[in-house]
Amino acid sequence: MFKKLFKQDENIINSGLSNELPLPKHIAIIMDGNGRWAKKRFLPRVAGHRAGMDVVKKMTRYANSLGIKVLTLYAFSTENWKRPNDEVDFLMKLPVEFFDTFIPELVEENVRVNVMGYRDSLPKHTLDSVERAIEQTKHCTGLVLNFALNYGGRAEILTAMKEATAEFIKDGKEIDKLTEDDIEKHLMSYGLGDPDLLIRTSGEIRLSNFMLWQLAYSEFYFIDVHWPDFSEENLLEALLEYQNRSRRFGGL
Ligand code: FPP
Repeated sequence: MFKKLFKQDENIINSGLSNELPLPKHIAIIMDGNGRWAKKRFLPRVAGHRAGMDVVKKMTRYANSLGIKVLTLYAFSTENWKRPNDEVDFLMKLPVEFFDTFIPELVEENVRVNVMGYRDSLPKHTLDSVERAIEQTKHCTGLVLNFALNYGGRAEILTAMKEATAEFIKDGKEIDKLTEDDIEKHLMSYGLGDPDLLIRTSGEIRLSNFMLWQLAYSEFYFIDVHWPDFSEENLLEALLEYQNRSRRFGGL
């Protein structure tokens, strides 16, 4: 009996990956090093962010071609508001530029956009473009391109705790009966599954308040390449390493 080969299986085999070993369903990336990349080239920091945006497009195409289900990208943290105003303004305009230029291709390639984060505090132009992108791709069934925008892991857990306990109190349930599932239902990533693989670029080895709950059993991959230089080959190396890891989820 031959297994029917889909285009994605072909892409996997052509990449040198095994189509017998699992690939991550959900990849999360901390896209770090845009500023350092720009500094090395005597360019303003924002030039690094713009170059980083092009890598987002490349990685979206590549992940989708391999049949990855979810790609979560840390685009702006709740702490990033502390950066100089002109950098914050630029980072808030990038999603507008990104979606304006990339939505037709996303629709064509069946990619659905999702955004997790505190949307209400985004400037109107950013929020409008995000909402348009979500609306225009809502019928797509391929990769979910999930941006963490104005996102913070601790704030997310706190919000989820408040919402879950408020619900319990309203329903007259004892707080003692609260389960992990009850909290999980209120996380911003609910329904997307936990990341199987976390990648952080640029050599820093920390989580920076990213998906603290969801990364409990993820495999971590740190690479000393600035995000604007991150390539398909680099993602492939991470996937090859992932296929060689043994995940036990606390068991033997
Ligand atoms: C961290 O690098 C990166 C960010 C805070 C922004 C990430 C944004 C992008 C890659 C642009 C793509 C966004 C969209 C919405 C398409 P850093 O500036 O902290 O780098 P440094 O540590 O070298 O200074």
